[in-house]
Amino acid sequence: MIHDTHHIPVLLDEVLSLLQPRAGGCYIDGTLGGGGHTAALLDHSAPDGKVLGIDTDIQALDRVRVRLSSFVESGRLLLVHGNFAELASIASELGFAPVHGILLDLGFSSDQVEDAHRGFSFSVDGPLDMRLDQSLALCAADLINTASEQELADLFRRYGEERRARQLAHRIVRERAKKPIQRTTQLAALAAAGVAYKPGSIHPATRIFQALRIAVNKELEHLESVLPQTLEVLSHPAEEGNRIVVISFHSLEDRIVKEFMRREGRDCVCPPHLPVCMCGHKARLRILTPRPLKPSIQEIESNPRARSAKLRAAEVLVSS
Ligand SMILES: C[S@@+](CC[C@H](N)C(=O)[O-])C[C@H]1O[C@@H](n2cnc3c(N)ncnc32)[C@H](O)[C@@H]1O
Repeated sequence: MIHDTHHIPVLLDEVLSLLQPRAGGCYIDGTLGGGGHTAALLDHSAPDGKVLGIDTDIQALDRVRVRLSSFVESGRLLLVHGNFAELASIASELGFAPVHGILLDLGFSSDQVEDAHRGFSFSVDGPLDMRLDQSLALCAADLINTASEQELADLFRRYGEERRARQLAHRIVRERAKKPIQRTTQLAALAAAGVAYKPGSIHPATRIFQALRIAVNKELEHLESVLPQTLEVLSHPAEEGNRIVVISFHSLEDRIVKEFMRREGRDCVCPPHLPVCMCGHKARLRILTPRPLKPSIQEIESNPRARSAKLRAAEVLVSS
């Protein structure tokens, strides 16, 4: 059902001061969500700046199409149902160039987590779904009920950094032999069984829910794939000052963004033991955030979902 968004854009002032939207500018919001960042980019690039908004969730697009209908009608907002892993081809098929800034605000939105039917939240009962793109074939319940014990343990450890990975995988395999695990609350109860959990501390199901969501949506693979594409899109045609801003919400995402920016921010990427440079790599980015930006205490107080956000930004270098 289409309704207004509940999502509050995170680090909005920081995004605007880094992307510096201006009249005539073209921006890609690869994670449209509720359209909060996009609306601000459009406002700040009036009267003719454009945004290409991409989301893998058709419901998010439907919502924004209504919310920002005046921009859609005027041709300043283009909406595409797609994965940002296809960012370069989506932009090129639409002839959306030159691009002055790209925003990726990773993960899921409040609209998705608050909708019990989407299965992202362990605190409300719903089907164990977790697909950002509901046209995907496999959902979280498929994974939980078919993966081997070893696969589940690996997944919980790798994507959830869960210390009880083996124990939880064992418990899940034992329980699903009696009855398939189909509901969010069923899985949350299994994760919480026997754990002395104090309200206010991290819920015992948090990490395995994160792990399942990352796996179902191939989130880290898509992030690895889009980062080099942002560089290509922002550097053709070569123009000074085009920028990429990425907001991540957990250490696995942030590490990928940090390593990409570090590598592309250096002239030589040879192993340190080599006496002379053999790679010929030239820096293609200037890092604008040597340390990631984090939300202020005031922002976290007014929007607790912002608390784990980290923002990294860089500017494309034009080779001489
Ligand atoms: C944190 S929300 C973005 C919120 C948005 N910035 C706003 O202000 O409302 C992340 C959004 O990105 C979408 N998303 C996540 N991974 C994606 C991907 N690989 N491709 C396209 N959209 C993706 C999700 O469906 C979700 O709507």
